[in-house]
Amino acid sequence: MSLVFGIAGCKPLPPSMPPSEWTPQEARGAQVFQEKCARCHYPTTAHSLHGPGLQALTKLRSMPSGEPPTDERLTDRILHGYGLMPGTPLTDQQLKDLLAYLHTL
Ligand code: HEC
Repeated sequence: MSLVFGIAGCKPLPPSMPPSEWTPQEARGAQVFQEKCARCHYPTTAHSLHGPGLQALTKLRSMPSGEPPTDERLTDRILHGYGLMPGTPLTDQQLKDLLAYLHTL
C-alpha cells in the first residue's frame, strides 16, 4: 500500500489499528510503549503531551522534524534521543516489537 498523507492539518488522520487486531508482536510492542514512551506521547491522537502525538506516525510523509518516518530513523530517535527527547535503551527484541507497534498507529 502506498497511500501518502499530507501534513496533519485539516485532514483527518487515518485511524490507528484497534487492539483487537494486533498481532502478538504488536501487542508486545504496545507494552514497551506503555513502559517507555507513554509518559511523553499519546499514541493514538495527534495531541501533544511532552512530545508530539504519534497517531499515523508511519503513514505520514514526515515526522514533526521533517524526517521521513522510516524504521531506521525511528530506531535512531528511540535509542539515541533527539532534541528534548531522551534516548531509551532497548533490547533488539523490544525495539523490533516497538517498531511493529508504531506501524499500527
Ligand atoms: C521524557 C519524554 C519523552 C520520552 C520518554 C519519549 N519521548 Fe519521543 N519525544 C519527546 C519530545 C519532547 C519530542 C520532540 C523533540 C524535539 O522536537 O525536540 C519527541 C519526539 C519524538 C518523535 C518525533 C521525531 C521527529 O523526528 O520528529 C518520535 C517518533 C518519538 N518521539 C517517539 C518516541 C518513542 C517511540 C518513545 C519510546 C521509546 C519516546 N518517543 C519516548 C519526548 C519523549
